[in-house]
Parts: sequence; C-alpha cells; structure tokens
Amino acid sequence: MTEETTQEEVVDTASTFKEAQRRSDATWAKLRAGETKGFRVLTGDRPTGALHVGHLFGTLQNRVRIQDLGVETFIVVADYQVLTDRDTADAIEDNVRDVVLDYLAAGLDPKRSTIFPHSHVPELNQLLLAFLPLVSMPELDRNPTVKEEIKAANLRTVNAAMYVYPLHQAADILFCKGNLVPVGKDQLPHLELSRKVARRFNERFSADVFPPVHALLSDIPVVLGLDGQKMSKSRGNAVLLKHTAEETAKLIKGAKTDSDRNIAYDPDGRPEVSNLLRLIAACTDDTPEAVAARIGDGGGGKLKATLTEALNAFLAPMRAERKRYEAAPDHLQSILRDGIVRAREVGEKTLREVRKAMNMSYSL
Ligand code: TRP
Repeated sequence: MTEETTQEEVVDTASTFKEAQRRSDATWAKLRAGETKGFRVLTGDRPTGALHVGHLFGTLQNRVRIQDLGVETFIVVADYQVLTDRDTADAIEDNVRDVVLDYLAAGLDPKRSTIFPHSHVPELNQLLLAFLPLVSMPELDRNPTVKEEIKAANLRTVNAAMYVYPLHQAADILFCKGNLVPVGKDQLPHLELSRKVARRFNERFSADVFPPVHALLSDIPVVLGLDGQKMSKSRGNAVLLKHTAEETAKLIKGAKTDSDRNIAYDPDGRPEVSNLLRLIAACTDDTPEAVAARIGDGGGGKLKATLTEALNAFLAPMRAERKRYEAAPDHLQSILRDGIVRAREVGEKTLREVRKAMNMSYSL
C-alpha cells in the first residue's frame, strides 16, 4: 500500500507547516487577549506509558495555559489507538491511569477540563463510520506521520487501524466540535485530514455541523531526549513526571554532552548540549543563551548539575500533586466517570445532528 512521498508533497507539507504556525500564532494572540469565545479545545494522547518532560513542555503546559485562559477543554485518552502498532492490550489500564495522573499533576483541572478514554464514548466511535465514506484509501495511505510510525515500529504486517486512526482522531476532535487542537507538528497531517473531513461532511450533506479545525502549536515543539535523540520512555532517555528526584538525577548523569568545557548554545554544532540548555531554560523561564552564559566554563558536569536542580525544583510541586491523586483511587475513578458522562452528552448531541444531515434519523 505504500508509495514514495513525492517532492510536491514535501513542499506542500512545508507550506502547510508555515501556514499552521502563522495561524497558531494569531490564535495565541487572541487567547492571550482574553478572546476565548467560540473556541473549544480537544486534544489527547495515546496511553502507551507515563508521560515525560517532552510531553510536559511540548503540550501539557499549553493545555493548562489554555484551560486557565478559560477555554472549554476536552482531553481524550485515545486507548483504541494503542493497538495500531502493538498486539497486546495488557498494559492499557495501567497506562491510562498513569496518563491521567500525569494530566492532573501537570495542572489539568477536571472541573474545567473533560478527561475521558474514547473507548467509553460510543457516540464518538460511531462518528468514524460516518467519516469513512469521506476519505479515499490513497489519502489514508499518504499520511507522512503514519508512514513514519510504520517504519519506526518495524511491523511485520500493518493493521488497518494504523491507516484509519487519523480518521478516528478526526472523530475524537469533531464529536465535540473541537476547533482548536494543541499538538506538536507531527500531528499536522492528522489535523489536515480532520479539516478535510469536516468540510467534506458539511458539503456532501449540505449541513453546517462541523467547524474548521486548527492546530495550536506550542513554543517548544520538540524537546529531545537526554542523548539528543527523540525523547521516548523506551529509549531510557526521558525524565518522567512520575520519576523521583533521585531517579531524575541518575538519568541526567548519563546524559550525552561533549568535550568542550565552555558551554554555549549552538543547536546545529552542539545539539546535545543545546537541548539540555533548552530544558533548563524551560524550567527557569530563561533563554538558553543566558543559561549557557551562567554555566560558562563549568563543562558538562556543571551543565548536568544545573539541569538536575532546575528540573527537580520545577517538577516537585507536580510530583507532590501526582502522589496525592495516586493515594485516592476512588477520586481518580470518579473523575473519569464524570468525564465520560460529559463527553457522551456532547457526543449524543453531535451524533443526532449527523444522523439528521445523513437522512438517518428515521425514528427520531
Ligand atoms: N495521535 C495522537 C498522538 O499520537 C493522539 C491523539 C488521539 C490525539 N486523538 C487525538 C491528539 C485528538 C489530538 C487530538 O499523539
């Protein structure tokens, strides 16, 4: 089913990215100015494990900021999407719990943000069936993020969920008429699909059910792992929110630096050192250059010590909050139950409109 990405698509992706960035900046300006009306945020994660600081700086902080600005927020835990690139569901329950604890630790407030696993919202899942006729197979096959995930997962056979999950993601977003989606740039192809599906649905069924969907990109789209590679739990190069201060210190001790004792911010020439500087800067609300100047000739040792202290201090209140929720499993369950009830209410309303537009509201 695969075909090579054409040059045209590469160019297209670049211009799409620039356009998304421009839009995202404009939306941020609006939100910061208190113009939150008409926006509904939907975003989420695949529960494949506890979240790390890459998630925190890449998206979680953004979500909290948006929630605190007063925008209605929905957070989907995309548990079905776990099975796109793995065969077993054994770890899903634990992982959902970990992810939700991480959300709460990071500052998502269940009173203001609706948190739910999509497996428990049948109305959302049914939308996928309404969306399937709106896309072609080659369109699903062309998705560059899906292609990359297939390559990265080294799969013997690729299951259909892998090709279809971006459409399921459109259902995640559109079931509640979400129009703002805070994500990293790897998700832009999926949002492009959501936008197309919303438009095609409205056009084909002469209805005005779904809004246009836009990405809200974060200031730090990519924080790398401690070895300068993509941050991921399985590579052992990630600091998790749930790690202890000691575990964090040990991980950072093993971080990759270089032999130049003079610490300087040089993302191209010294990617690993620069990444650690960015991490410190994110914790101390500084620029990486200013952090580098402070460390000066201190070398990798001082760089790591500075990062350990900054990161542990920054994460301490979140880790304490996480522990509090962890000690109250009944409360955690009731948060999820409430989230599901709210999501189903909203989904039922949308599904009713969808059925009506599709001439399928026979008995209603
Ligand atoms: N595909 C996303 C990821 O891999 C997770 C996700 C599922 C999502 N549904 C979503 C993100 C809806 C934003 C909106 O990270």
